[in-house]
Amino acid sequence: MKKKVLVTGGAGYIGSMLVSKLVQLGYKVTVIDLLKYSSTSLNHLCFNKNFKLIVDDVRNKNLIKKEIKKNEFIIPLAALVGAPLCKKNKKEAVSVNLDSIKFLMKNTRKKNKIIFLTSNSGYGIGKKDKFCDENSPLKPISLYGITKVEAEKMVMESKNVICFRLATVFGNSYRMRTDLLVNNFVYNSINKKELKLYEPHFRRNFIHVKDVVDAIVYSVKNFNKLKSNIYNLGLSSANLSKLMLAKKIKNRLKYLKIKIIKNKKDPDQRDYFVSNKKIEKKGFRAKIKIEVGINELIKVFTHTKENIINNY
Ligand SMILES: NC(=O)c1ccc[n+]([C@@H]2O[C@H](COP(=O)([O-])OP(=O)(O)OC[C@H]3O[C@@H](n4cnc5c(N)ncnc54)[C@H](O)[C@@H]3O)[C@@H](O)[C@H]2O)c1
Repeated sequence: MKKKVLVTGGAGYIGSMLVSKLVQLGYKVTVIDLLKYSSTSLNHLCFNKNFKLIVDDVRNKNLIKKEIKKNEFIIPLAALVGAPLCKKNKKEAVSVNLDSIKFLMKNTRKKNKIIFLTSNSGYGIGKKDKFCDENSPLKPISLYGITKVEAEKMVMESKNVICFRLATVFGNSYRMRTDLLVNNFVYNSINKKELKLYEPHFRRNFIHVKDVVDAIVYSVKNFNKLKSNIYNLGLSSANLSKLMLAKKIKNRLKYLKIKIIKNKKDPDQRDYFVSNKKIEKKGFRAKIKIEVGINELIKVFTHTKENIINNY
């Protein structure tokens, strides 16, 4: 019997890549998504009888109850994603990122297995020269971070849950985002030929979107081995400062000018290195190097003419 998977927010940046892979592997996948940013990101799957798209709101309680009953795996990705978007739409951010997850968890049954994605931005500002692990204190510094941390707490009250705290994701997707740091730097390097860096020493961990997809597929296949736990999920060789990242892009685009802006604060104060040892010990390791992603993004942004709708 084919496993049934419900993915909310499945038309988004991560979702559209994940759903494509799950359908390709033979899972029966239902997506609930309002198609806020892209109405075409899943069109290539419509041919497949194992794929179903429901264009609706995750806050539609009757629909969610019905779909919980029908599916074994539930991957709730629908959210207002990113600090600026949540700051602009506070009420919606709380109702989608938090209240809808509360409702979902209240209505799940024994057979349901939940894979939840949150962000390692909960670590906020890390200690100098120290790697954050899953036991490091969470100090979210935006409403987005707060809703994700609260949702994670709620989700972890159930045993049948795997939670990934994601690094900043990069790489191409059927629904593209250029507000993510690596994507944004490459996009601006090509279109403006210049990168302005505020607080260039600020550090982050990164991961390619295909590695995120592979980690989720791994956790579907190895659910019992991984369940009831939270894992950081990032590429261990990609704990980089903004300046290190900019220099990697300049290695490929020699014309790029990197301008360091002094005496000005970055509105995004995240600064931390992250350890991914816990998930690596369970058998999954992210593989796609940041240089590979930079090459991919250069190709993508050099030829893309369509407007990309971002989460601002
Ligand atoms: N991309 C990252 O770097 C990153 C990092 C950490 C965690 N995450 C988490 O991964 C998940 C997916 O993020 P993404 O980057 O794909 O974002 P995204 O903005 O591309 O996707 C979100 C999707 O949710 C849908 N959506 C929003 N509100 C909805 C609603 N009320 N009902 C139905 N659908 C709705 C949107 O239409 C969109 O397709 C989110 O939960 C996010 O918090 C992402």
